[in-house]
Amino acid sequence: MQPFTYDALAGRVVFGPGTARARLADEISRLGVSRLLLITDTRAASLARELAEPLDGRVAGLFTGVQEHVPVAVAEAARQQAAETGADAVLSIGGGSATGTAKAVALTTGLPVIAVPTTYAGSEVTPVWGLTEGERKTTGTDPRVRPRLVLYDPELTVSLPPGLTAASGLNALAHCAEAFWAPGRNPVTALAAAEGIRVLAQALPLAVKDGTDLAARSDVLYGAYLAGTAFGTAGSGLHHKICHVLGGRYGLPHAQTHAIVLPYVLALNLPGAPEAAARIGRALDTADPAAAVQDLAAGLGLPGGLRDIGLREDQLDEAARLIVPAVPADNPVPAGAAELRTLVRAAWAGTPAAVSDDAAVQAAREAAVTAEVLASFAGATPPRFKELAQSLVRNLHAFAREIRLTQEEWQFGIDFLTRAGHITDDRRQEFILLSDVLGMSMLTIGINAPTAAGATESTVVGPFFVAGAPETPLGGDIANGAQGQPCYVSGTVTDTAGQPIAGARIDIWQSDEDGFYDVQYPDGRTAARGWLRTGPDGGYRFWSVHPAPYPIPDDGPVGDLLKAAGRGPMRPAHLHFRVVVPGYRPLVTHIFVAGDEYLDKDAVFGVKESLIVEFTEHPPGPAPEGRTMSEPWSRVAFDMVLAPAAEQAP
Ligand code: BEZ
Ligand code: FE
Repeated sequence: MQPFTYDALAGRVVFGPGTARARLADEISRLGVSRLLLITDTRAASLARELAEPLDGRVAGLFTGVQEHVPVAVAEAARQQAAETGADAVLSIGGGSATGTAKAVALTTGLPVIAVPTTYAGSEVTPVWGLTEGERKTTGTDPRVRPRLVLYDPELTVSLPPGLTAASGLNALAHCAEAFWAPGRNPVTALAAAEGIRVLAQALPLAVKDGTDLAARSDVLYGAYLAGTAFGTAGSGLHHKICHVLGGRYGLPHAQTHAIVLPYVLALNLPGAPEAAARIGRALDTADPAAAVQDLAAGLGLPGGLRDIGLREDQLDEAARLIVPAVPADNPVPAGAAELRTLVRAAWAGTPAAVSDDAAVQAAREAAVTAEVLASFAGATPPRFKELAQSLVRNLHAFAREIRLTQEEWQFGIDFLTRAGHITDDRRQEFILLSDVLGMSMLTIGINAPTAAGATESTVVGPFFVAGAPETPLGGDIANGAQGQPCYVSGTVTDTAGQPIAGARIDIWQSDEDGFYDVQYPDGRTAARGWLRTGPDGGYRFWSVHPAPYPIPDDGPVGDLLKAAGRGPMRPAHLHFRVVVPGYRPLVTHIFVAGDEYLDKDAVFGVKESLIVEFTEHPPGPAPEGRTMSEPWSRVAFDMVLAPAAEQAP
């Protein structure tokens, strides 16, 4: 058994035929709410009115404007109604879209949700919300949207037409299947998922054949509940990513889309997920789950291809392209542009979904290598190292699989890194450059950005910081012989409440007018760098030279990479700051010269709007710090705000 972490989802579930009529009022009392906004869809409207009747006036408002995929405008209307009626809870009676609308209200108001589902959507037990705006679907997870109470009454599903029963039942089955490889999977969700698949596959044909078969209806609803809990914890994987694009962009009906796509995702993924294949196979009593699910869907009378539910052939390439960036990094098998094009086309045409033997053997061969390497780190400590190492292996292997890396290409990569190593020494750091031009430096900075409102944004440190620069008094000159028009820099360092921070150490380093740092000078002298401390008022000020745009060092392998990509090596003119003081999070940032021609094409992606500052030009004459200038000079002011140290990443 692999170690795992499981945040079990709280919430009360009351399950059984007749519960909606017999228990709803008591259960609402138990929750202590008394002004409900009732949200219902067209299908469930009369049922909802009937169920609301015995609630002794506790329904304060009725919202019936539910639409599929929860358009933002519908969510807004429901929220407004909740506010107008002074609701203290939301009661949804209906299918997934009614629950989804109730969740949208909870998302912004925090009101508790009570769900009485009438379909097999399963979303009533997940913390997942979804909204659509135009063609874009946005989803997220927030514990507040998860219903506090769910009443599952199989009697309410009896009138669900066979087509909807079949489609939403298969949608639930998709939730179960996906729980085997989705990012939050764990052994408990796998258990629920396997059992969900078993009951759904057994009971769905019976419930579709005879909608009044209450035993079958109970089993399907139970399966849908298991599917929802598995999905709520495991999250979405490749299958859901595909369906979200298809639903959001092309307006395809949610449940049918799931039903059609699932067999193809199974055919793609199962060869790379042998344990899932075995467990899903056992639950379905088959050696070929992809074909079995497709047969099940066909037997339930569901449409076989996306062409049957409105997707056009000329939309296939775009659909595949839109899915590519959403593919989870740890999908069991590579799913790049080529695989997705093939998958989407097959799902469109409704061709038989089956795992080819060759593909299965090949995927198993590759998966075995990854599994063996991951296992070699299973005992690594500390836990964070193990996590880093295993994630690196997973993602590196996924990269190699996705682009079908050739041995020559891998050797080329090794040679590239070898050259980077050879050119690196105390004064030249090719690996930082590589991190910078690949955007890894800025990505890491973005991931770890302070959340404190108003804190100054960070940017790349770059390779030119050196320890041991000279100290400069406040108002002193750090140019130290660097060539360039004099530039006076001043500002303050404060905390996020605007209080000055005295004694903060500010390191400054920058290029001269030719775009060179001192470490690039042949004579090794120190210039255009130094450090000082803020005064009692948090202020700092110093003289230096006006910075110039410059190319990052491009005579090594990183330069070759830029050339091969047709990218330029230039950085817009800037000054570097590093601010350190106990009690605050260290800040590494730049100020960029407004108007610089390279601001929108920085080779290392370091520019942020808030760091672009106006440098004013001044004629010869009197200047700060008692100077009289015989040449033009420039001036810039830049105030910095530090986040509290408590925010530092562990
Ligand atoms: C710099 O601004 O000093 C720098 C940053 C990234 C790469 C090269 C230089
Ligand atoms: Fe720089």
